Amino acid sequence: MQAIARAQPNIALIKYWGKRDRALNLPAVGSISITLADLYTDMDVKFDAALAADRLTLNGDEEAAMLPRVSRCLDTVAGSGRAAARVESHSNFPVAAGLASSASAFAALVVAASGAAGGQRPTDELARLAGRASGSAARSLYGGFVELGLNGDGIEVATLLAAEAWPLAVVVAVTDTGAKPVGSGDAMEISRRTSPFYGRWIDDQPRDLATARAAILARDLEALGVVAEHNCLKMHSVMWSSRPPIVYWNAATLACMHAVRELRSSGVGAFFTIDAGPQVKAVCPGADAPRVRAAFESIPGVAAVLTSGLGGGARLTARR
Ligand code: DP6
Repeated sequence: MQAIARAQPNIALIKYWGKRDRALNLPAVGSISITLADLYTDMDVKFDAALAADRLTLNGDEEAAMLPRVSRCLDTVAGSGRAAARVESHSNFPVAAGLASSASAFAALVVAASGAAGGQRPTDELARLAGRASGSAARSLYGGFVELGLNGDGIEVATLLAAEAWPLAVVVAVTDTGAKPVGSGDAMEISRRTSPFYGRWIDDQPRDLATARAAILARDLEALGVVAEHNCLKMHSVMWSSRPPIVYWNAATLACMHAVRELRSSGVGAFFTIDAGPQVKAVCPGADAPRVRAAFESIPGVAAVLTSGLGGGARLTARR
């Protein structure tokens, strides 16, 4: 009746932006991500018939805003006739750091809920359930380099390359700790309805996915960096050309992007990517991470720098 699961956030190199079906939360495009090792969310789920309603705490504090989404996710895993649940979420990184906290949270939630409900569900089924709650969460069920593909009316998620096979690091420059102006789900809808570039974004995605997939399998950092930066800037161009425009960047975001380009011209193998927020994530060989970190730390407006290696997928850590 009670289970605990751990999941890590993931960073998309080829981005998910746009939904094919809002009700089922089906992405309009495939995506490729890397799962982190050192940042995690632990999710403790206990179904308890004595509870009148679901309860959720985030790092010890009662959380009302996320509760309806969590309850819907529990329904998809354990059925709507389930007992109410007490859900405790603990993350070892700041939720406001723009690190896809919903990805690690919902990935851990489906694993813990399924464990607490007594089931033994296959990972691909858990990934589909996590994706219903948050598209990027489906990828955190798997470790290393992960591809989410579209398959008929559903999604298909798999590891392309294990984390150990290519030990890259991710260095995150946190440039703003405030809440984002528009959540990614709503922003995607605005983009779909209003950006003149949206159709082209969707049409181009299979080519970027193929290029990135080949670069990952060949462990070609330069080729991966070229396509990942291009894909990221294309996604942000769709956002900027939406009405109203969706601009997540600040001055430090841009300074960090320039810093990564300068590092590259001085021989450091690194590329940047930016999600629906102002934080900049640099991907580089583990040995280059200290140099990237030092460069980010010297930029005015950078509030914190986090570093992580690549790791495994979501897993059950306890069941009682
Ligand atoms: C920019 O997974 O947060 O990070 O399905 O609405 O929960 P929902 O969206 P979400 O979107 C992630 C968008 C992104 C790119 C990515 O992670 O692929």
